[in-house]
Amino acid sequence: MKQNKGQKETEEKKQVLVQAPLGMNDILPAEQKYWNFAIGQMEDLAKYFGYKKIVTPIIEYQDLFTRSIGRVTDIVEKEIFEIKQKRETKLALRPEFTAGIVRSYIENGMKNRAKPVRFYSFGPIFRYSKPQKGRFREFWQFNVEALGSCSAGQDVEVILLCWDIFEKLGLKNLTLQINSIGCPNCRPEYLSLLKEYYRPYRRRLCADCKRRFSKNPLRLLDCKEARCKEVADKAPQIIDYLCPDCHSHFKSVLEFLDELDISYVLNLRLVRGLDYYTKTVFEIWPEKEGGNLSLGGGGRYDLLVEELGGDPTCACGFAIGLERIISELKNQRIDVKEERKPKVMLVQLGEIAKRKSLPLFEKLRKQGIRVLAIFGKDSVRGQLSVANKNKVTLALILGEKEALEGSIIIRDMQSGSQETVSQNRIVEEIKKRLKED
Ligand code: HAM
Repeated sequence: MKQNKGQKETEEKKQVLVQAPLGMNDILPAEQKYWNFAIGQMEDLAKYFGYKKIVTPIIEYQDLFTRSIGRVTDIVEKEIFEIKQKRETKLALRPEFTAGIVRSYIENGMKNRAKPVRFYSFGPIFRYSKPQKGRFREFWQFNVEALGSCSAGQDVEVILLCWDIFEKLGLKNLTLQINSIGCPNCRPEYLSLLKEYYRPYRRRLCADCKRRFSKNPLRLLDCKEARCKEVADKAPQIIDYLCPDCHSHFKSVLEFLDELDISYVLNLRLVRGLDYYTKTVFEIWPEKEGGNLSLGGGGRYDLLVEELGGDPTCACGFAIGLERIISELKNQRIDVKEERKPKVMLVQLGEIAKRKSLPLFEKLRKQGIRVLAIFGKDSVRGQLSVANKNKVTLALILGEKEALEGSIIIRDMQSGSQETVSQNRIVEEIKKRLKED
């Protein structure tokens, strides 16, 4: 049958309405065991290290992100989800946690707290990038920040927590990549040398790098385009131009890591995609060749608090991408336990039994017995088939006769044997049978 134009448009509209927005995913019940496992392990470790949970809004003033992440970064130039409002200052969905947490630290006067002030958070993050495998427009991060310590020991505490998280999740074959990108004392001299080196190659760089050359030359170093990589390979290395303070700080960080027996790869082209970093930067990568997705990354950002209007405050932190972690858990076939399932199903037959089964369900719940029940299903066969599918040990069957008598049938789902007992003894009967199970 031919459709007219109006019909076709309505169908198209309907199709759009039943799709999640591009680059955004549902996290369905079957996936939850991975999420609960990953977040649970991360939270336990962060708490053990003394980090406290902080929740900040998913939306902030857009200017906060521009000022902290940097105007000439992919995140700010191309990936901000702006929220259109009529007259008010522009808002945006958060493309990371750090800026919002620093804003909250300043706004809530947390500078007087004992240092370091440590926070952890997890939740959705939004970046308007081209969706592809492992790169989404909405994804979740587990994020950690420590504010108020300038010492190399703090960098290492943060890196150790990050490393321990991967270890606790059971993930193997990962690499810690590390670098130092200096500070305002040493970076300007290096950047002018870098520009001198790049000047003769300017014409052959990609369009993004041509802009980076004048606006953000450090980012020239981690361009993924083959022709730019070739130039970056022979570029001067910042490590040779660090000031004495940055040099000794980085040396201490590496010595601490050696002491901890954490192996690392010195990646002198690692500069990170956010402008607020100073000194140490690091990323965690799967070891396998050709992977272009980091699992986590972070570093030190000693100037950001002051730049956003707070007192000078050294800080460092990291974030881990949860979707990438969960995909890696599956790749590495890590056994994630199912959530505890009920071992008992309450089956009812007829109106009176249904009415009586609800208080019974409540009684069992209060006694700590997890019970599966579907009060909207009438046929016993249908309910027993749910019991079978859920592999429960016992079915409690309440028919009209039992409901009137105050008794109940206990059916052993494996042997099929049944026994009628008084409802007054139901809790002890269930506990006895489950213990034997
Ligand atoms: P980031 O490197 O931009 O750092 O992101 C951290 C992690 O988030 C990445 O390693 C990756 O696992 C995940 N991720 C990033 N983009 C996507 C995407 N489009 N889809 C899926 N996962 C993604 C930060 O966000 C910094 N705020 C980290 C930090 C905290 N630095 C200091 N404190």
